[in-house]
Amino acid sequence: VEGAEDVGEIASLADARAAVQGCRRCPLYEHATQAVFGEGPEHAEVMFVGEQPGDQEDLAGKPFVGPAGQVLDRAVEKLGIDRSRVYVTNAVKHFKFEPRGKRRIHQRPDGGEIQACKFWLNLEIGLVKPKVIVALGATAAQSLLGKSVTISKLRGTPIALADGTTLFVTNHPSYLLRIPDVEGKAREQAKFEADLLLVREAI
Ligand code: URA
Ligand code: SF4
Repeated sequence: VEGAEDVGEIASLADARAAVQGCRRCPLYEHATQAVFGEGPEHAEVMFVGEQPGDQEDLAGKPFVGPAGQVLDRAVEKLGIDRSRVYVTNAVKHFKFEPRGKRRIHQRPDGGEIQACKFWLNLEIGLVKPKVIVALGATAAQSLLGKSVTISKLRGTPIALADGTTLFVTNHPSYLLRIPDVEGKAREQAKFEADLLLVREAI
């Protein structure tokens, strides 16, 4: 079904995974290596939604395999959330970047790109039917809530979505990686883990 973008033709995660490679809904497919679709058990109870694939994810074709993924993996493991209960994906499926010499510098997706790619996230949610969705960062929260929001105002409280799932909002793991001072990092790490503890209690 490569190129198939009629929801009616996409009946499984495997169909969607194949079809997303032909997506032309926004311009981001032009420069990225490939679309990076979500991964995890077909009926996971928790869906983590990041922003978009990073440099390493773009090359590997898998979500959260780089540094941010390691932060997420460690937190999930530390809190004792079984990986078999977790599906991991992104709000936007193609890597958006600006070339700078040999490096590719991450750029935030804009509102139009987030909205265009919600097509795929909606498919994933409809097929996986998670009980709980965790928005990692502002882009994921914007995608799931349909408006731009402030993480600090929303974190710590479950949000009931229209389809009956419960949404939790927290920081993106990359944010933790960017905090330069040790104390500030430890403080934010603790808040991140506290947010994920609420998730564990909700599943
Ligand atoms: N950051 C994201 O938001 N998603 C990934 O898959 C990797 C890094
Ligand atoms: Fe399609 Fe999303 Fe890629 Fe844009 S970023 S081309 S909407 S898959």
